[in-house]
Amino acid sequence: MSMTMEAILDKPQIRRLSAPDRQAFRDHLNRLDPDSLRQRFGMPVNNGFIDTYATTAARIDTLIFGCFINGEMRAAAELRNVAEGPNQSAEAAFSVEKTWQARGLGTALMARIVAAAQNRGIRRLFMIFLSENDRMRRVANRFGAKLSFEHDASRGFVTAVLDWKR
Ligand SMILES: CC(C)(COP(=O)(O)OP(=O)(O)OC[C@H]1O[C@@H](n2cnc3c(N)ncnc32)[C@H](O)[C@@H]1OP(=O)(O)O)[C@@H](O)C(=O)NCCC(=O)NCCS
Repeated sequence: MSMTMEAILDKPQIRRLSAPDRQAFRDHLNRLDPDSLRQRFGMPVNNGFIDTYATTAARIDTLIFGCFINGEMRAAAELRNVAEGPNQSAEAAFSVEKTWQARGLGTALMARIVAAAQNRGIRRLFMIFLSENDRMRRVANRFGAKLSFEHDASRGFVTAVLDWKR
């Protein structure tokens, strides 16, 4: 019997990150290829930026989830501005390492983010990404997000908004 790569891989495990996961989060971001990094942050970024970002990302109003495969973090999702108060909106952002893209991890993380947002009484979730980012657009569409398009001098952006009633 041939052993395929899929057969020896664990099922992806998604869990909320805490302080001891900071280095794993930084390592995950550093493994992103230049194009995925540009898609994630909307602009080209260097290693110095990533180090600072990984150190400061876990703020009191931010939840970060990691997706682990065989013990390595291969994808992450961030939910920002999880503040108290009615009608609040939170921003979500996703990163999946190249080899692991288009295998459903982004969709699984989005489901987790939506559940986390709903559990915290958030009414509106939004995501901002470059208009060329078809994969992110498909993930957002699958969850019924409303898309709007904007341009600045050099780039086109999509804002995807998910609203739900309580
Ligand atoms: C955008 C991004 C988060 C999407 O995550 P992903 O894991 O690649 O996306 P998914 O696999 O869940 O879904 C995207 C497409 O992949 C394909 N796909 C989904 N599940 C799949 C599976 N199990 N097997 C094969 N292909 C699959 C589908 O074509 C899907 O589109 P669909 O929903 O129309 O069917 C990821 O590609 C990424 O990190 N990109 C770089 C950073 C970035 O762009 N971040 C977003 C800006 S915040």
